[in-house]
Amino acid sequence: MKKLVVLSGAGMSAESGVSTFRGAGGLWDKYPVEQVATPEGYAADPGLVINFYNERRRQLLKVEPNRGHKLIAELEKEFDVTVVTQNIDNLHERAGSSKIIHLHGELTKVCSSFSPYDPRYIRELDPEEYEIKLGNLAPDGSQYRPYIVWFGEAVPKIEEAIRSVEQADIFLIIGTSMNVYPAAGLLNYVSSRTPVYLIDPNEVSVNSNGHKIHVIRKVASEGMEELTTLLTAK
Ligand code: OAD
Repeated sequence: MKKLVVLSGAGMSAESGVSTFRGAGGLWDKYPVEQVATPEGYAADPGLVINFYNERRRQLLKVEPNRGHKLIAELEKEFDVTVVTQNIDNLHERAGSSKIIHLHGELTKVCSSFSPYDPRYIRELDPEEYEIKLGNLAPDGSQYRPYIVWFGEAVPKIEEAIRSVEQADIFLIIGTSMNVYPAAGLLNYVSSRTPVYLIDPNEVSVNSNGHKIHVIRKVASEGMEELTTLLTAK
C-alpha cells in the first residue's frame, strides 16, 4: 500500500463550523494570541486561558466532521494514511481516521502546568469534564492546563511527523496557511519524487523547495472529492 501523508490545518474544519485563526473573522482577531496561546499569557491569567479552551470544548460538542474529513478517512481503504494535523479538535478521529499526529495538542486532553509534556499527567477528559476550573489539580499538585502547544513552546510530536513525512509516497497539504513552524517546514522532508497536492480555496504562499505542487483551489470537501477521483482512478 502506498503511504499518503496529510498535513491539515484549521481550514479542514471550517466547513464543520470551527473558526480558522488568520484572516477576517479569524480567532486571533477576537482573542489576542499572546493572551490565550502563550505560556506568558497563561502565567498572567490562567483563568482567562482555561475559559478560552473551555469555550473551544463546548463548541466541539456541537460540531461534526465534514465530507473532507470523511473522504480522508475513506482513503484508508486504498492507502496507508497518516494525518499530521495542526488542529486541536477531534474531527479527524470522529471521521474514522486511524493514524493521527496532533502537532499542536488536543482539546480533549489536559496536562500538568509544571510538566506539560510528562505523559503521566496527560489525561483524556470525558465530555462531562470539559469545563476545567481553577483548582482542578493534576496528580503533581499543579493546575490542570489545556494540553495545547502554545507559541514559544516545543513541538514534541514534530520528530514523529518528520519520520512519517520522509516516507510519504503522496503528500497532501489541506486547509493551512503554512504560516506556523515547524509544521510548515515539513514539506522540506518530502522526497522530491513524491507528488504534492495542496487544497485551499485561497492562495497559499508555500516555500515549495523545488516541489511542483498540484494546487486544487477549492474548499476541503470539494477539494477532497476531486483528489479522491485523481488518486483512485484506475
Ligand atoms: P490559518 O487560520 O492560518 O489558515 C487556515 C487556512 O485554511 C487558510 O489558508 C484558508 O484559506 C484555508 N481555508 C479556509 N476555509 C477553508 C475551507 N473551507 N476548506 C479548506 N481550506 C480553507 O490556520 P492554520 O494554518 O491551521 O496554532 O494555523 C496554524 C496554527 O496557527 C494553528 O494550529 C494554531 C494557529 O495559531 C496554535 O494555536 C499553536
